[in-house]
Amino acid sequence: MAKYLVASFPWSSDVGNDIANALGLTHVVLETKQFPDGESYIRYPIDLSTYDGLILIQRAYPEQNTRLIQVMLAIHAARDLGVKRIHVVLPYLPYSRQDRRFRDGEPVSLQIMLSLLSSLGASSIITVDVHKPEAFRIANTQCVNVEPFELYANRLRGVEKLVLLSPDIGSLWRVRKVSEYLGASFSYLEKFRDRVTGEITMKPKELDVAGKEVFIIDDIIATGGTIMEATKILKALGAVRVHAIATHCLLLNMADSKMFEVGVSSITCSNTIPTKYSVININQLLTNAIKGLIT
Ligand code: R5P
Repeated sequence: MAKYLVASFPWSSDVGNDIANALGLTHVVLETKQFPDGESYIRYPIDLSTYDGLILIQRAYPEQNTRLIQVMLAIHAARDLGVKRIHVVLPYLPYSRQDRRFRDGEPVSLQIMLSLLSSLGASSIITVDVHKPEAFRIANTQCVNVEPFELYANRLRGVEKLVLLSPDIGSLWRVRKVSEYLGASFSYLEKFRDRVTGEITMKPKELDVAGKEVFIIDDIIATGGTIMEATKILKALGAVRVHAIATHCLLLNMADSKMFEVGVSSITCSNTIPTKYSVININQLLTNAIKGLIT
């Protein structure tokens, strides 16, 4: 069997430790620094020449532009030093929401990121709950999307008068998957985003949520605008409590406080991006996915 090393960036070393321990592999933390002009430096603190394969782990948020450059440097260095297979783990995949050209003149940013990583030598890219898995069709490298939905269902088991809600049609498949584990009822709202201002509006809709405990499930909470708009509608329809579950919680500009102000009762996130709400640990799911690639 090929000899693999796990290498993680410092802010991802908890993920690296868990994966290396579970797979019985050596784990090193990459050295990083920023030059005075802002450019990135990385270094493997180990001789890579005895390894055939590498599992490279980077939490690429916050500071996604810098952290993606670090990953690129690390992929190229490993290839250059003779490593043949490089599996890149990006629990949150930056630029994944720009997976198509929404307005004339825009780039398809996700395609650019994936092709850069692949052309530098990534054998595969492993991520969690990517915005739209079908967007991986444009990738010229193997992409693995790890789904955390069973973990969400496990947290909701036993909740009475439970209704699952997708804040838009785009996330309905997520909610459907969680509901399949629980047999819970689910519905969705219709969201519109102004592509220029980013402003969100939602179409009022009759939903059977009066007296119910509603859990909104989405991939990302960024500004919190989506969850807040949905919460206002759900509260007006008589929902007892509204909760938010999301895989990647960016929580920009105190989005959590703003969400609580409009009546959100709880926020649950995964540890793809560490926050005080990151109670869902996806490291075991990542390990399982990697196992499938290296054995
Ligand atoms: C978009 O379609 C995503 O699934 C999320 O709904 C969105 O990214 C959330 O962003 P925000 O919190 O800024 O509304």
